[in-house]
Order: sequence, then C-alpha cells, then structure tokens
Amino acid sequence: MIPTDLFDAAVVVRDNAYVPYSGYRVGCALRGSNGTIYTGCNVENVSYGAAICAERSAIMTMVSQGCTEIMELVVVTEDGGTPCGLCLQVIAEFISPAAVIWCAGSTGHFERYSFADLMPNAFRSDRVGRATDASAE
Ligand code: THU
Repeated sequence: MIPTDLFDAAVVVRDNAYVPYSGYRVGCALRGSNGTIYTGCNVENVSYGAAICAERSAIMTMVSQGCTEIMELVVVTEDGGTPCGLCLQVIAEFISPAAVIWCAGSTGHFERYSFADLMPNAFRSDRVGRATDASAE
C-alpha cells in the first residue's frame, strides 16, 4: 500500500502549487534516509522555462537540509502522472536502489513503480570520472 504519511503530505503541499499557466497541480513528498519527510510543489513562472517541478522542489529541500538519499517518494497529481524526464534525472542522483515511487491521482488511485520502471539505463555518476569525489566543488 501507498505510505499514507507521504500521500497525506503530498496532498497538503499540492494545495500550494503555483500554477497560473498550466493549472496542473503537483505535490511531492519523499522520505529521506534520516526518516524525515520532505515536500515540494510545482512553482511556475511567466518565463515558462523557469518553472520548477514538485519532485525537484522536494529534492532540493532534502539536500539543502543535509540528506542525500531518497527511501520512497510519492507524487500526487490530478491523474496519477509520472515524473518528467528532468525530475527522473535528478531522482536518479539520490534514489536508494530499493526505493519505491508511488504516483497517485487526487482521488486516491495510485501505481507503484521502481525507479528502473520509469527510467531504465539512466545516466549515472559512474560514467563521470570524478564521481567518486562528489564532495569536490
Ligand atoms: N510538473 C511537475 O511538477 N512534475 C512533473 O514531473 C511533471 C510536470 C509540473 C510542471 C508544470 O508546472 C506542470 O506540472 C505542467 O507541466
């Protein structure tokens, strides 16, 4: 079953989505490896490319607070939509191998995915020479 604490947190933060251009509200709640729940919503901008998605908003908050591993993640939209490609690339950076991603509709239906279901063969840090020294710069 979908973790209700994450689902409830994503529903609440989704109300804060700033979506004057698309009207498509997204809320995200994730559990970090420290047990803390981090949330985010999408925030749009009149310069459309400056918008940030809910998932990346939540992840930036997690990392800002000193946590760098996602144990599970819930996204709530009106229709149960999955994370976009940009968000999947950012999720790839921080997702635990065992993590589950839940995509829920606002009426409560949901799907359960592994990260690999959504982004098989993701570009990962082991392709980059300096990946073993992530703290540098
Ligand atoms: N959006 C997200 O917040 N997460 C996604 O993974 C997909 C798209 C937002 C961006 C934009 O504010 C709206 O949904 C429509 O694309």
